[in-house]
Amino acid sequence: MDNKMQQHWEDVYKNKPLNTVSWYQPNVDTFKKVAQRVKLNANSVIIDIGGGDSFVADFLIENGFKNANVLDISKKAIERAKKRLNANANKINWIISDITNFETSNRFDLWYDRAAFHFLNDENQIDEYAKRAAEYVAENGYLAIASFSKNGPEKCSGLPVKQHNQDSLKKIFGNNFKLIDFFEEDHQTPSQKNQNFTICIFQKK
Ligand SMILES: C[S@@+](CC[C@H](N)C(=O)[O-])C[C@H]1O[C@@H](n2cnc3c(N)ncnc32)[C@H](O)[C@@H]1O
Repeated sequence: MDNKMQQHWEDVYKNKPLNTVSWYQPNVDTFKKVAQRVKLNANSVIIDIGGGDSFVADFLIENGFKNANVLDISKKAIERAKKRLNANANKINWIISDITNFETSNRFDLWYDRAAFHFLNDENQIDEYAKRAAEYVAENGYLAIASFSKNGPEKCSGLPVKQHNQDSLKKIFGNNFKLIDFFEEDHQTPSQKNQNFTICIFQKK
C-alpha cells in the first residue's frame, strides 16, 4: 500500500470524531458473534487487523484476554485508542503497520478483521494479506473476515472497496483454511444507513 493510503487514514483519524465514522460500532456485536463461534481462552493470542480506535480493544481488556494485539496503518488511530483506554492501554500490544507488509514471529489464535480487508483491491495486495494470514495464524487458529457483502456499499470512507461473499473469500483463503461458519449482518451507520456485511470464519487446516 502506498503513502497516499496511509495519509488518507491519518486524515480520517485527525478529522473525524469516533462516533461519526460509518463503521462506528460501540457494542462490538460483530466481534462478539465471532467469539461465540470459536474456541478462545484468556491466553489466546488475538489480533484485530485494521482495528483503528474501535471498541474491540476495550472488550478484549474487559474480558481478560491477556495476549491481545491491535494493528493499524494509522498512527493517529492507535494514539486515539490509547488515549481512550488510558491506564489500560498497556494491556494491548499496539502495532502500527500496513498489513500487506507486516512481519512478526508471533502466531495468532484469532485473526479478526472488520472492514479493513475489503479495501484491498489489487491482486498483489490480496496475495500479501493471504500469505501473512496463512503464515501467522497458529495451527487450528481462526481467521475471521468481516467485509462488505455483494449487497453492501461500493465505497467506505470515500475509497472503493471489494465486496465479498463466501466463494470469493474461500478462493482467497481456502488453500490454507477451511470455512467453518458464515453469517451476514446489517450494520447501521451513525447516519442511519444500512451496510450489509458478510462474515466468514475459517480455521487453519
Ligand atoms: C473502516 S475502518 C474499520 C475499523 C475497525 N476495524 C472497526 O471495525 O471499527 C478501516 C480500518 O483499517 C485501517 N486500514 C486500512 N488499510 C489498512 C492496511 N493496509 N493495513 C492496516 N490497516 C489498514 C484503517 O486505518 C482503519 O482503521
